[in-house]
Amino acid sequence: MNLITVNEEKCTKCELCIKTCAAAVLKMGSHGPEEIENTHCFACGHCTAICPNAAIDNKKSPLKDEIDLKDFPKLNEKQAEYFLRSRRSIRNYKTEPVSKEKLTKLIDIARLAPTAANSQGISFVVVQNRQLLEQALDISIQLVEASPLKHLIEEGDKRYKEDGYDLVFRGAPNLIIATSDKNLPNGRDNAVSSLTYLELYAPSLGLGSCWAGLFEYCIGIENSPLLKLFNIPEDKKVVGAVMVGYPKYSYKRLVDRNPLDATFIE
Ligand SMILES: Cc1cc2nc3c(=O)[nH]c(=O)nc-3n(C[C@H](O)[C@H](O)[C@H](O)COP(=O)(O)O)c2cc1C
Repeated sequence: MNLITVNEEKCTKCELCIKTCAAAVLKMGSHGPEEIENTHCFACGHCTAICPNAAIDNKKSPLKDEIDLKDFPKLNEKQAEYFLRSRRSIRNYKTEPVSKEKLTKLIDIARLAPTAANSQGISFVVVQNRQLLEQALDISIQLVEASPLKHLIEEGDKRYKEDGYDLVFRGAPNLIIATSDKNLPNGRDNAVSSLTYLELYAPSLGLGSCWAGLFEYCIGIENSPLLKLFNIPEDKKVVGAVMVGYPKYSYKRLVDRNPLDATFIE
């Protein structure tokens, strides 16, 4: 209770805040929207964000923390398509380090991604130490060699055997590990959403990224020594990982995928 405050002079009782509330927390009262008892607001911020007159405030999603969208230039259809399609997985990085400030900007966008019932709950471990990644590479290779994925090393990528090529982190100077509480039911889903935001934002900061699926596999093995190497707390689980750095090369074309496979039911 006392979750929302309403400026009665500004409120026109248009009910947009009530219609947009995913958790059915609000009802219309004689002085404007009111909170319904025994409901649970999950702080999505929709009620405050949708109000045309900024008449409603919500303790869980304060109006003062929201940004006015009126001057935001919308991407047109083509720009949006090119923006999404020009993201590439980067597997060749410059050795140049990425500043803590830039890495912070990157994960600060990742934290804004949609999550199950706005549960969020993703914490980031940002590894900026390439030597630590070299250690993690050696451990990962040992783990892969003893696993059903050993063919990846034996047959797949001879570059590792021949010249020590980093087939786990692709020579990236940074690794961002997403963790969540062990008991967060949608931890992996939330991490996929978060890290996808991160990957899409990275090129705007001049950065490249690549999902670290092989590393995820290795750190997911029971009692993996990688958990200790990266100081993952006992009560946390690793729910995703992405490598990050300045790309060495740039791509000149957008790639295509499999043909669209969709069924429309009318
Ligand atoms: C869950 C997941 C795991 C991945 N793991 C790896 C990985 O371990 N190493 C790697 O080089 N790329 C990895 N990738 C990148 C994919 O290979 C890549 O997204 C795909 O080939 C399409 O290329 P693009 O991302 O450049 O469009 C992974 C991607 C996803 C979504």
